[in-house]
Amino acid sequence: MILVSSVCSFMSIKATRCSHKTPPSLPSTANQVSIKGHNEQQLCPTKFCCCGTGRRHFIEAAAATALLPLDPSTSTATDSMAMLNKVHPPRADWYEELYASVMNTGMKFYEEEIAGYKSHLFGILRGQAEKVLEIGIGTGPNLNYYATDTDVQVFGVDPNKKMEKYAQAAAVAAGLPLSNFKFEQAVGEAIPLSDASMDAVVGTLVLCSVKDVDMTLREVKRVLKPGGIYLFVEHVAAKDGTSLKFWQRVLDPLQQIVSDGCHLTRETGKNISEAGFSGVDLNMAFLSKASLVSPHVYGIARK
Ligand SMILES: C[S@@+](CC[C@H](N)C(=O)[O-])C[C@H]1O[C@@H](n2cnc3c(N)ncnc32)[C@H](O)[C@@H]1O
Repeated sequence: MILVSSVCSFMSIKATRCSHKTPPSLPSTANQVSIKGHNEQQLCPTKFCCCGTGRRHFIEAAAATALLPLDPSTSTATDSMAMLNKVHPPRADWYEELYASVMNTGMKFYEEEIAGYKSHLFGILRGQAEKVLEIGIGTGPNLNYYATDTDVQVFGVDPNKKMEKYAQAAAVAAGLPLSNFKFEQAVGEAIPLSDASMDAVVGTLVLCSVKDVDMTLREVKRVLKPGGIYLFVEHVAAKDGTSLKFWQRVLDPLQQIVSDGCHLTRETGKNISEAGFSGVDLNMAFLSKASLVSPHVYGIARK
């Protein structure tokens, strides 16, 4: 994943976006610890191309279908587009296509190893959440874990529009009718949804890439209903003093340049713990096949 996205990023060039073309039980390796009074568990063996106006009309039209709980009287959609352009300026079409294609085919080993964690984590959504937002949905590798009910409505946001067809295919493969799936080109820092409109938010391998982790977490909290849950799986910095941390530090600047803004040394678990959720169940895992991105946090935060 890293190597290919590196190549992609090196080759990326600027393009205009404004063209007129049309916790459940855990895997057995879990060691449980308690932090901040919460039951925490630690696993440590160690374009659609459009102008702002067209886009706004598109979003409002979608909202009219009742899939998106957007309030057209607010500036949410406009803010979302402005933030998209600010934190994730347009890439060339071919670059976004290549990156999406690589994400669709290059993550198989990773997905195999993380499957047990995802299965336990996302399984709790089945039959419990009617409206689910996934931030940085990418090619939709999580949909088969939580979007299998025909009455769930899934809203996926991602700045890379080329992810959409893969995410749609993943939705169909999961058994979700496409009428219940909406992909929107947007960023986590400005989610084009109304306050308190989602039962759950899902995010995997995305807080490493967003420009502003805390702003994204504020947005996650904003769109969650009271009592709603945020489910996360994120790669994070290794423990201080380890050789992995040394290499993460050395390679982090290069990683940011070559992997579309992905950071290796973020302490995302800390951000989530301090984001003001009413409760956080935070777990750690170390994936043996994931090399530089082996250390992970995963869990549930409740609004
Ligand atoms: C490593 S991929 C992970 C995709 C998917 N969540 C998965 O688990 O395979 C990172 C994703 O985050 C998206 N992304 C990058 N910046 C973002 C932002 N500011 N807000 C939301 N998503 C973003 C990328 O386009 C990409 O789809």
